[in-house]
Amino acid sequence: MSAARAESPSFAAWRESQQAAVERALSQWVSPDAPAGLGEAMRYAVLDGGKRLRPLLALATSVAVGGSPAAAMRAACAVELIHAYSLVHDDMPCMDNDVLRRGKPTVHVRFGEAQALLAGDALQALAFELLVPDDGSMAPDMAASLCRLLARSAGASGMAGGQAVDLASVGLALDQAALEAMHRLKTGALLQASVMMGAATGQVSAAVLAQLAQYGASLGLAFQVVDDILDVTADSATLGKTAGKDAACDKPTFVSLLGLEPAQAYAGQVLDQAHAALAQTGLTQLDTLHALADWVGHRAH
Ligand code: IPE
Ligand code: IPE
Ligand code: MG
Ligand code: MG
Ligand code: MG
Repeated sequence: MSAARAESPSFAAWRESQQAAVERALSQWVSPDAPAGLGEAMRYAVLDGGKRLRPLLALATSVAVGGSPAAAMRAACAVELIHAYSLVHDDMPCMDNDVLRRGKPTVHVRFGEAQALLAGDALQALAFELLVPDDGSMAPDMAASLCRLLARSAGASGMAGGQAVDLASVGLALDQAALEAMHRLKTGALLQASVMMGAATGQVSAAVLAQLAQYGASLGLAFQVVDDILDVTADSATLGKTAGKDAACDKPTFVSLLGLEPAQAYAGQVLDQAHAALAQTGLTQLDTLHALADWVGHRAH
C-alpha cells in the first residue's frame, strides 16, 4: 500500500500511553456489579483487548482542535463501548458465528447467547450514559452533540444499517459501489464518528469540520478494506479472530471483488485521500492523525 510508513517511536509511545489510559477509564466505568453475571460479561467484552483505534482517533482529534481532555476521554470510551457491543453481536451465531475474538473465546461462547445479547445491549446504553455526566463536567450542548454523532453512526444510518446490508449480501456479487457503501456504513461510520466526536470536544469552523469528516470517512473505508485483506493474508493467532471467515461465509469483500493486490492498492489510495483531507484542515497538530492513518494501512491485525 502506498503512503504507509513504519510507526515512529514517538507515535508508538503516545499510542501505548493512550491505550493504557483508555483501559483504566473503561475499567473504572464498566462496573463488575451488574446483576446475575452481566457485569462480568460486559467487562470480558470490552477490557483487555483490541487496538483501541476509535478511542485513539477521538483523543488525537481532540488534541488537534484544542478540545477538552476530560470530554475527549468520555467520547473515546463511549465509541469503544459501541464498538465492543457491535463485535459481541457480530460474533453471535445469528450473524457471523465466530468463536474467537481478541484472542479469547467470544462472549456467547463464554457466557451463553442470552448473556451476550444483554451484554451488548448494556454496553450500548452505557456508552450514552458516559456522554451525559450528572456532575456538571460537560456543557449540555457538547453532551448533546456527542450523543447525536454517536447515535447516528451506530444506528440504522450507520453501523447497524451496514450490518443489515452485510447479512443481506451473503452469496451476492456486489459491485464496487455497493460494497463501498456497505463498508462506509458498517465500519466507516463509527470511525468517522470517532473523529467528529473528538472535534466536538473543541471549537472548529465548518470548513475544518468538513475536512475532518472526509479524513474520517476515508480512513474508515480503508480500515474495512484492510480488514477484508487481513482476513485472507493473516493467521488466526495474529488476528485474534478466525482467519478466512469471509470466504467461508461467502461474504462479498474487496478481496473477493478486486483480488488481493488491487484491494491493497485501493486501500492505499483511500488512505492517501485521508492524508490529503487532513492537510486541507490547516490545523497545526496533525502528526498523530497522520500516523493513525498510516497505522490503519500497515497494521498486522
Ligand atoms: C474489527 O475492528 C471489526 C471491524 C469493524 C472491521 P477492529 O479491528 O478495530 O477490532 P479491535 O477493536 O482491534 O479488536
Ligand atoms: C464487522 O465486520 C463490522 C462490525 C460492525 C462489527 P466484520 O464482520 O468483517 O468484522 P470481523 O472481521 O468479524 O472483526
Ligand atoms: Mg460481520
Ligand atoms: Mg465478523
Ligand atoms: Mg472482517
